[in-house]
Amino acid sequence: DAPFVIAVDGPSGSGKSSVSRAVADRLEVGYLDTGAMYRALTWWCLERGIDLADEVAVEAEASTVPLELSDEPTRQRVLVGSTDVTEAIRTQEISTVVSQVATNLGVRAVLQQRQRDLIAEIAEARGGCVAEGRDLTTVVVPEATLRLLLTASEEARLRRRSLEVHGQDDEDAVAATRDSVLRRDRDDSTVSDFTVAADGVVSLDTSELSFEESVEAVLGLAEEVR
Ligand code: C5P
Repeated sequence: DAPFVIAVDGPSGSGKSSVSRAVADRLEVGYLDTGAMYRALTWWCLERGIDLADEVAVEAEASTVPLELSDEPTRQRVLVGSTDVTEAIRTQEISTVVSQVATNLGVRAVLQQRQRDLIAEIAEARGGCVAEGRDLTTVVVPEATLRLLLTASEEARLRRRSLEVHGQDDEDAVAATRDSVLRRDRDDSTVSDFTVAADGVVSLDTSELSFEESVEAVLGLAEEVR
């Protein structure tokens, strides 16, 4: 039997992480946040004083970084060696520079292979895996049981990110979020296309959906293919 894998892609603020985690939790399968791997590698390189512009050096770190991710959707921890970086990789400092690491094609090849291996392991151990990022449906696991692209209007995405980062979504908070979010999406989209659904990928616009409605919609789609 082919392993049960749900691949979810989308831009920042599309709700992909929170929805994917809730879906994995409800289906009682494992979870992989591939963005956390790019973030953890970025944290590690900064920690070691590696120049992020040095593509060869950063690629070498991608092969050796001692990364460990728990596959538990509700208590996801990220370890680099013995350091728990779960919170440290969410800082603005990391968000600002992570695209520089993620647009390094050597790094992508290494992490994509690690992601394939991890998804296979998790799916085997947990009876399935929900994996999310930017290029899961197109590059990492195009053979997934269900492939989904979560989209949302720019306004909805900025509002959500603003709530996440600043704890509020008033005009000032949204404005403060705008530049960094749009710039990161623009940089990221130079190496993977997560704005249009590829052939066979189901597109779900969450702009008008509540969190719970988004989760239900994905669970409905999963039901059809499981
Ligand atoms: O999903 P998240 O915002 O945590 O991802 C952080 C960064 O990791 C993205 O901005 C992007 O640069 C990179 N990424 C990627 N490919 C993925 C997942 C994340 O390039 N599959």
